[in-house]
Amino acid sequence: MSVFNSSRLQGKTVLITGASAGIGAATAVLFAKAGSNVILAARRVEQLQKIEQECVAAHKAAGVQAGGRFASVQLDVADKAQVNSLFDRVPADLKAVDVLVNNAGFVLGVERVGEIADADYEAMFQVNVFGLIAVTQLLIKDFKARNTGHIINLGSIAGREPYAGGGIYCATKHAVRSFTGTLLRELVNTGIRVTEIQPGMVETEFSVVRFRGDKSAADKVYEGIQPLVAEDIAEEIVWAASRPPHVNVAELFVLPVHQASATINYRGGNVPHSRL
Ligand SMILES: NC(=O)c1ccc[n+]([C@@H]2O[C@H](COP(=O)([O-])OP(=O)(O)OC[C@H]3O[C@@H](n4cnc5c(N)ncnc54)[C@H](OP(=O)(O)O)[C@@H]3O)[C@@H](O)[C@H]2O)c1
Repeated sequence: MSVFNSSRLQGKTVLITGASAGIGAATAVLFAKAGSNVILAARRVEQLQKIEQECVAAHKAAGVQAGGRFASVQLDVADKAQVNSLFDRVPADLKAVDVLVNNAGFVLGVERVGEIADADYEAMFQVNVFGLIAVTQLLIKDFKARNTGHIINLGSIAGREPYAGGGIYCATKHAVRSFTGTLLRELVNTGIRVTEIQPGMVETEFSVVRFRGDKSAADKVYEGIQPLVAEDIAEEIVWAASRPPHVNVAELFVLPVHQASATINYRGGNVPHSRL
């Protein structure tokens, strides 16, 4: 038996944006294992369907009787019309969401201010900030009407500390931090919980996207240091969601053991990227 009780998640319905890869995908599989239903949303439908199959397998292997309903829904969070019509594409039995994981997000480039393409800074704000706000606005009325629900936002170490070459990404994650803080305060008289997860370095597709598909540039980010992996953050998300209803895990700042800040880390040698 597990030390921490995750049975509260059984039969709950979780909506995860950016569930086609990385942290979102690992989180979907872990909620499936815990006996939840999961709506997986992102732009790449084929990729979502692969993760959905992993959810089905994880749920079956766990042998939990509850939950186990999954749906892959195409969603670009930057497209207001797609966000607002999201529930037209969700099966009827999954329309009452209990946990929203606002995970979709990305960073593009390391250009210094003055050299950043307009399209790049606009796209980062469209997804990381406006997309997160739009999805939250879509669900919050129902959460308020039912006086329950949990909003889990993916912030970042970049939302606590700016760094050179991260001007826009850091600004978007500072915005996420501020918006999450407002939600926490506005919802204090409700049963709705609000959590911000602030990871440090996690090895996912994140850096490959940042370096526009250049895998060797992305690999350099993790050279000589053991980064977190998506499953490490998924565990934090699922743990926060599985606390008793009167407990609100407001923030989780989670780093690799050899990372101390956005720019201070220890690269003492090539360590294996295994998760023991
Ligand atoms: N990796 C890190 O070091 C790190 C650290 C701190 C915080 N974070 C945050 O954690 C979250 C997840 O990142 P990750 O590391 O898992 O990166 P990832 O592996 O690149 O995954 C990003 C996910 O976001 C989705 N996405 C991107 N644009 C989208 C859009 N317009 N609409 C809907 N979905 C979209 C992608 O799916 P599609 O391409 O299929 O749409 C993908 O599923 C992000 O918010 C990121 O800022 C990551």
